[in-house]
Amino acid sequence: MITITCPKCKKKHNIDKNRIPPNKKIIARCKACSHRFPIQFIDKSHEKIEKLMPEGNRVARSISVSISKGGVAKTTTAVNLSAGLALAGYKVLLVDSDTQGQDSYMLGINTKAGLTELLTNELSSEEAIVEARENLWLLAGGKSLAGIKRLIDRKDFGGEMTLAEALTPLETQYDYIIIDTSPGWDLLTVNVLFYAKEILIPVSLEVMSLQGLVEFLKSLSSIQKYRNQVSLKYILPTFQDKRIKHPTEILNKLKQLYGEYICNPIRYNANFPQAPAFGQTIFEFSPGGTGSQDYRELVRKVSNDNSLFR
Ligand SMILES: Nc1ncnc2c1ncn2[C@@H]1O[C@H](COP(=O)(O)OP(=O)(O)OP(=O)(O)O)[C@@H](O)[C@H]1O
Ligand SMILES: [Mg+2]
Repeated sequence: MITITCPKCKKKHNIDKNRIPPNKKIIARCKACSHRFPIQFIDKSHEKIEKLMPEGNRVARSISVSISKGGVAKTTTAVNLSAGLALAGYKVLLVDSDTQGQDSYMLGINTKAGLTELLTNELSSEEAIVEARENLWLLAGGKSLAGIKRLIDRKDFGGEMTLAEALTPLETQYDYIIIDTSPGWDLLTVNVLFYAKEILIPVSLEVMSLQGLVEFLKSLSSIQKYRNQVSLKYILPTFQDKRIKHPTEILNKLKQLYGEYICNPIRYNANFPQAPAFGQTIFEFSPGGTGSQDYRELVRKVSNDNSLFR
């Protein structure tokens, strides 16, 4: 039970805290004077996590959101998974390895520096990383990463480890390092796969997605010949539209072929393209919508904690 005092008539109300969704502003109505006012219950689960993982003992899980196919919700997933884990109390570093640099736009942040400056040693990690939200930090991407590809290309050997060398020392500071990758396949993608240990592949349930998945898994296995620490962990169906038959067929096929990896799908939701214009995550833009529900479910799956946000 928690006690809430009406700001108008000062009447105290005892409320079962399980009835209030955590970390979300809702409007309460005073039963005595009918005044409506916003309340927010801050979930303290992060304190539990702090206790489990005292500073210094942390080793971040590194998860890359990758597939060569474009427009399948890689960035949407990297940003909202990171934001959801941060809301759940985990310390998260989101790394944008894409020259499009959309992660900072989606979080409504103007960054002057980011991954490029860290990789060229122009800036320290403290200078290159910006705090985007409580528990969420961003290493921004952008056009300048094109120069990094040339820098990697010019290295005589060890070019594929450039990103790993920069990110590994940061692992003790975070619970999760989530990496957004660009579409296609280039030296930076290879670098990401030589760093991350877990791969999350978003697959659009719209069209031609299976072919893209199979091709990407082939490329991944060519990396695994040299680095067996990297493995496929999650396949996330996106753009699910139950009104249309075709996506259901694709989902069934995916379950048949890759059952153990398949996460609950992210439903098609028009809020996703709108939220970035406000610099908001889906949890901020539409906390009660299906988009938030679906990404909360993904957070539970990835963190292996079914009690989160309940
Ligand atoms: N579940 C969804 N429902 C509706 N629209 C979505 C959904 N998920 C993402 N979108 C929208 O689809 C578009 C592409 O998403 P996003 O940019 O995340 O894909 P991407 O795979 O990162 O693309 P790219 O390959 O160009 O990096 C965006 O406008 C995004 O807002
Ligand atoms: Mg993207």
